[in-house]
Amino acid sequence: MSTMTQAVPRAASGHPKLLSGKDAAAAVEEELIRDVAALKAAGIAPGLAVVRVGEDPASATYVRNKVLAAERVGMRSIHEHLPETTGQAALERAIETLNADPAVHGILCQLPLPPQLDPNRITRLIDPTKDVDCFHPYNVGLLSLGEPRFLPCTPAGILDLLQRGDIPVSGQRVVILGRSNIVGRPLALLLSHKGWDATVTLCHSRTRDLPQLTRQADILVAATGIAEWVTGDMVREGVVVIDVGMNRVEDATRKTGYRLCGDVHYASVAPKCAAITPVPGGVGPMTISMLLRNTVQAARLRLPA
Ligand SMILES: NC(=O)c1ccc[n+]([C@@H]2O[C@H](COP(=O)([O-])OP(=O)(O)OC[C@H]3O[C@@H](n4cnc5c(N)ncnc54)[C@H](OP(=O)(O)O)[C@@H]3O)[C@@H](O)[C@H]2O)c1
Repeated sequence: MSTMTQAVPRAASGHPKLLSGKDAAAAVEEELIRDVAALKAAGIAPGLAVVRVGEDPASATYVRNKVLAAERVGMRSIHEHLPETTGQAALERAIETLNADPAVHGILCQLPLPPQLDPNRITRLIDPTKDVDCFHPYNVGLLSLGEPRFLPCTPAGILDLLQRGDIPVSGQRVVILGRSNIVGRPLALLLSHKGWDATVTLCHSRTRDLPQLTRQADILVAATGIAEWVTGDMVREGVVVIDVGMNRVEDATRKTGYRLCGDVHYASVAPKCAAITPVPGGVGPMTISMLLRNTVQAARLRLPA
């Protein structure tokens, strides 16, 4: 964990340092290839099961990327694709089958689920020792105590990017925009734990005088889901910006009809930054790498003591 307290030096060119998740994820995958090979040599072939229900196109892309990444590092991957009309009982049976399968070490159910299904019941049904998304209340409890078994994937990816980018965290003022259970809240927990030692302000849609807070941030994390909402006037010179947002904005000039952008208005914010993550190619690839790291961790739990 970081113990650095100094400020991030600006690049001599005046351009911000780019915190590339693509490069970092490639480095993590190299480490994971070795970890998976070592586990296989010890008689355990790590296996990841991804459950998807219905035809949500974004979910299909996310799941495909997760399965491909698992295969790249030598893991066994199972993709359970259930029809849009699947009922709660059928989905629960599928999860229970995976819970009981000793060849499956990690299980995730891709969200969102179709409206007839209760995601909270599914999250609670996944065996906590196979809960590689770290959504089960038991694992969230361990996390909040500072004794995590798994790290939630997107926050862990952000911490890894900060570390690899030599960004000082200890003693720094971190402002997080968004308090979701997937991103903002667990990230606030992790950064405030001993070892990371950041001073964290967790903001949400009811936060007053938000630009006043964001302008005080040494590190600003944007996770609101509002496209290009953080503008240059909301940040101070020398800030480090982590853009978690992944938004589709209509763009008639693209073949797809849309472009991907973050929650940060890159053109006005980047010139003021010491460092910034791009979108795409920033936090996104790291989220997948951390999922694989958790699956390796879950497989290690099966090693004889
Ligand atoms: N790159 C990745 O791997 C990755 C992973 C997960 C999510 N994401 C992206 O990250 C973004 C956030 O995702 P999420 O799942 O955390 O979203 P979410 O569950 O919709 O939460 C959004 C949060 O932003 C807050 N918010 C909304 N408007 C705000 C405003 N005007 N001022 C301050 N806070 C505001 C909300 O406040 P309230 O609580 O008051 O409603 C909520 O806490 C999305 O673009 C998503 O696609 C990316």
